[in-house]
Order: sequence, then C-alpha cells, then structure tokens
Amino acid sequence: MTDELYPVPAEWAEKAIINADRYAAKYRESVEDPDGFWRREAQRIDWIKPFTTVKDTSFHEDDFNISWFGDGTLNLSSNCLDRHLATRGSATAIIWEADDPNERGMTISYRELHSMVCRFANALKAQGVKRGDRVTIYLPMVPEAAVAMLACARIGAIHSVVFGGFSPDALAGRIKDCDSSLVITADEGLRGGRVVPLKHNVDEALDQCTSVTRVIVMRRTDTDVPMTEGRDIWWLDAEAGVTADCPPEEMGAEDPLFILYTSGSTGQPKGVLHTTGGYAVWTSMTHEYVFDYRPGQIYWCAADIGWVTGHSYIVYGPLANGATIVMYEGVPNWPDPSRIWQVVDKHQVEILYTAPTAIRALEREGDEWVKKTSRKSLKLLGTVGEPINPEAWGWYHSVVGEGRCPIVDTYWQTETGATMISPMPGATDLKPGSASKPMFGVKPALVDDKGHILEGAVSGALVITDSWPGQMRSVWGDPARFFNTYFTHYPGYYFTGDGCRRDEDGYYWITGRIDDVINVSGHRLGTAEIESALVAHEKVAEAAVVGMPHEIKGQGIYAYVTVNAGCQVDEKLRTELIHWVRAEIGPIATPDVIQFAPALPKTRSGKIMRRILRKIAEGDISHLGDTSTLADPAVVDDLVANRPSNA
Ligand code: WT7
Repeated sequence: MTDELYPVPAEWAEKAIINADRYAAKYRESVEDPDGFWRREAQRIDWIKPFTTVKDTSFHEDDFNISWFGDGTLNLSSNCLDRHLATRGSATAIIWEADDPNERGMTISYRELHSMVCRFANALKAQGVKRGDRVTIYLPMVPEAAVAMLACARIGAIHSVVFGGFSPDALAGRIKDCDSSLVITADEGLRGGRVVPLKHNVDEALDQCTSVTRVIVMRRTDTDVPMTEGRDIWWLDAEAGVTADCPPEEMGAEDPLFILYTSGSTGQPKGVLHTTGGYAVWTSMTHEYVFDYRPGQIYWCAADIGWVTGHSYIVYGPLANGATIVMYEGVPNWPDPSRIWQVVDKHQVEILYTAPTAIRALEREGDEWVKKTSRKSLKLLGTVGEPINPEAWGWYHSVVGEGRCPIVDTYWQTETGATMISPMPGATDLKPGSASKPMFGVKPALVDDKGHILEGAVSGALVITDSWPGQMRSVWGDPARFFNTYFTHYPGYYFTGDGCRRDEDGYYWITGRIDDVINVSGHRLGTAEIESALVAHEKVAEAAVVGMPHEIKGQGIYAYVTVNAGCQVDEKLRTELIHWVRAEIGPIATPDVIQFAPALPKTRSGKIMRRILRKIAEGDISHLGDTSTLADPAVVDDLVANRPSNA
C-alpha cells in the first residue's frame, strides 16, 4: 500500500523560510557540526553574556551531563518583551478572546505587556519571592497567566503551572513536591460556560500544604471568595505601590526556568525541569521554522497554558519571535461547534495549532458548522498531542483548510521542550498520519528489545541518540529518577516511551506509547496514577487501568476493579468510583469503563498481566496470546464473559 502524498505547494516551496534544499543542508549541518549549527542558531536570542561553550552532553552513566550554552547568561522575559519594544512596541502581542462570545476581549501591545509583566514582577518581589523560589500558577486562560509566567522568568523565580482542571488533591501534590512559597490563582475560571472554583480549590489544597505563605488572587468573575487574612491578597492590591520598572535578573543558561508536572509510567507525576538558554533557542527556532512564522501574522495555539504546548507555543516561542498570538479562554465547541472557526474569522487567524481530539470532536458535528464560516485567513494548520488518524487529517485538510493549507503534525513531549519530528510547510511533502522528519539537531533511531539500532523501513522503540538544546534537565528533586526513567532502558539513548515505524522514505509514524502511559484527548495520564486513586477508595482492594480505543479521545480509560470482601458491586459503586477518581485527580482522569472483577490475571509471581487486560479492553478477545503462565487462567474467562455493556 502506498501512502497518500501531498506535495509541498509551489508557492510554499518558493516563499517559505525553509524549503526542501535548506532543510537537507541545515539538517546535515545540525548533526555533523552541532557546535557550529547551534552557535549560529543561538544568535536569535539576546545574551547578556555570550556563551563560549555550546554543547556539553552525555547520555552515559559515568559522565552523564546535559548542558547547553553553559557559560552564557540571559533573561527570557526580556527576550520575549524588552527587545521588541524599539521596533514593535505598539504591535499586538496578545489578542485575548473570552469564553463567552458576547464578552469583550482584549488586545495587548508589546509595550503594555512589558509593563504588566514588570509591575507584577515587582509585586512578586514585594511579596518576598526571590530568585530560585518556586511559584505555583493555577489560573484560567487569561492574559494574567502569561504575565505571571513572564514575571517569574523576569526575577528568576521558577514557575510551576498547574492546569485549572486539576483537583485540589492533584494541586496540593504539585505544590508540596516543589515546595512552592506562593500560589497565583483567580476567584473563578470560566470554560465552556462553566465556572471553575479555582480559589476554592486552592483553599482546599492549602489545608495540606505548609510551604505556601502567600496567595495572589486575580479577579476574573468578581465573585465573593473567602480571603484568608495574612495569606491571601488580591492581584491589584499586590500591585499597588509598585512601579513598572523592573530590571531583568541575569540568569545562567542552565538556571531553571520552570517545572511542569507530567505523568509517567510509575507512581506520582514527575516535575519535568526545563532550564533557560537552550529552551529559549529551541522554542524560538522551532516556532519560526515549523510555522514559517513572520512577525505580523496572527497565530493561534489553542492549547491550555497548563500543558507544555501552552508554555512553548503560546508563551515563550512565539513571544521570543515577536509574534501576535491569540489566547482563548474557552473550548473549541462552545457555545456551539462553530466557535473555533468564528474565532478564526474574527481575529483573521493565519496559523492554527490544535489537537487531534478537538478535530475529531468537531468533525463529528458535521461540516455545516465549519462551512458557514469563511476561514479565508487560514494559511497553515498544525496538530499535536497524539497520532492523528489519516481520516481526521483528511477532514482538517479538505474541509477546514479547503485543501489550501499544509498541516504540520508535530511530534514532541513535555520532556523534549518543543517539536522533535514535524513537517515544515515549505520543505516536506505530507503523508497524513505521519509526523514525517526530524527537526534540526534531532537524531531519532528505532531500536529493538535489546537496544540494537534498526536500519531502514522498520518498527521499533523510538529513542533519540543525542541531546538537543530544549531537552528536560532533570526531574525536580530526583535526578536519579530522571536518569532511570529515560536513559536506562536503552543505555546511551533517550527513550521517548513511544513506538514508531519508519517507512521507505524515512518518514516517522508514531504508533503510540509502549509504556504504562495513556493519552486521553491529548492529555497524558499514568495508569499507575489512576490505579492508586482507585485503591485509595475504602471499598477497593485492587485496580488495574489500561487504555482502550476511543473514537474522540484517542484513548479512553478502562479500569478493572476488585472490591474488598463483603462489598456490594452495583451501579451505585460504579458511579461513586467515577466521582472519586474525578475528585482525586480531575475530570480528565474520568474512567470510561469500570469492570468489576473477582480477581485480576496474574503471573505466578504476582505480576498483573496487563497485556491481557489491554486485549480485553480493546475487545480483541480472540488474540489473548499465551495465558499459560497465569496463576489462575480461569480469571481471564470471567473477565471476557463479564465485559460491561459500555465497553
Ligand atoms: C506524548 C507526549 C507535545 C505536547 C503535547 C503532549 C504523544 C504528542 C504527537 C504527534 C503522535 C504524539 C506521544 C508523546 N504525541 N504529539 N504529533 N503524533 N503522538 O505532550 O503530554 O508530554 O505527551 O504525546 O505519545 O510521547 P505530553
């Protein structure tokens, strides 16, 4: 079978920053002479003290090290703001679109954003925040979220943004893990017409956290919320009496910029740590080349700031490039499935970056919602978060983009900082469903079980054989976990956790996670995390969670639950457990299916055989494979016979 191919349109080949020849030449240079390549690319950033060393990295245990531009100094907020003032101070930095289409939005110029950030940075200082302190940001999608992040970067505080959809417990865990001293939140958030009780959640979370001495509260809905005397302060009051003059802190290239928690295959979410210099170069470069971005273009990344996509492609990459970004508070399909396209028309968006789950959900509503809008402004479309099925790709391309807009399917991870494998619109012929070719400086390889590198058109585990500037540097507070998670499966290489196929043309096709991580609507969840939430319930003895195919979400959550002796299993308990998980983690972790099981299939040594559970969840019961090593094979028959009706 030959894959469909969409050649680079002639005008893109002609006008794009990167065309096929430049891609080939630059890629070759980036892997053959990384020092020379990155020395030049790093000039896109304004350094306070120029670096002399470029790359000092090793993935091997004896001399493990990841350092880029190590002796250079810079400030990322001034790269995103101050340096644009002379040439484009009055240009728009942020176009803010409110959740409710009838609420007036906001347009913020670079000059205004600069002074908002400086003022808030001074407010943070006045509240006692110092360089190196951790600040937790738990805000809705409002400009203040970007202001808070940039203000931290300005004074050298390390931000940890927690998605507003996470529960008080999940928030508390993330505050405790990094010992935040200050939380920035809002009275309430608004999303898809619903109110999110952010301040209330913070209050609940802080019952368990002793490190936090201050909470800054922004007014979004103007609701009355309780304020704790001596701890809580309104955003505006925190800014009273401070000036908008805040010189940027001189940061080392390897000083931490932020922590972002993400799910792994075991235990608690880990605090992915990114540093300053390499991340700045990496996000700015990929944003320019992948989106072929030219200042003046209206660019909309429809992600939430609580995910890495929001960090790298709403805030740091685009603003470092002087971009005009759309920031949207709501969801793509509210009040109706036309909203996303109405926002495109209203703000004349040229570049739109969203996720396969949103595309599939909108496609299901029918073409009329799309077709009644113009979308003439659109030039380029992007997708991220999970593999996009060719069918949804085709709809995005033909219905949304009317066949005129290339699609960049960008493969990357929280850990990689920015895009690793992606087409560039002027350089890469597109194959629907393939993230295509590696970014400059990225050396992907496919390996077999033993870690041997496979050549040619094959499938294997996706590893990256050498460092790139925006790579995560550590797991906050646990460097050993960092090394063990990513560099021990295939010694000498960074293991992505993904399976992948490479075709005859050298295109990469990500096939999905091969560890115990599932991807629900582009949100990453560890099966272990959901299991520990379930077993924390008094009636649950044991739980095993696996992914199952889901039409809209990509993957759904299938939980097998064994209850304690004497506990009644019924619909009431099922509902109770669903609510329980939502409260423990957040709505994104809601199980789609709960199957009560008298026992789980285990090996004689007591290890749960997830392979079998995955097959049953997929409904693929004729291919259960070898069950002979099970302690009690009858357990499987029971599971097959009792699949719930909604599975
Ligand atoms: C995992 C990382 C990158 C920001 C959003 C998700 C999957 C991501 C793609 C893509 C196929 C993709 C991978 C990866 N993934 N983008 N274009 N094609 N798979 O970041 O939460 O860290 O999740 O998302 O499985 O490992 P994340």
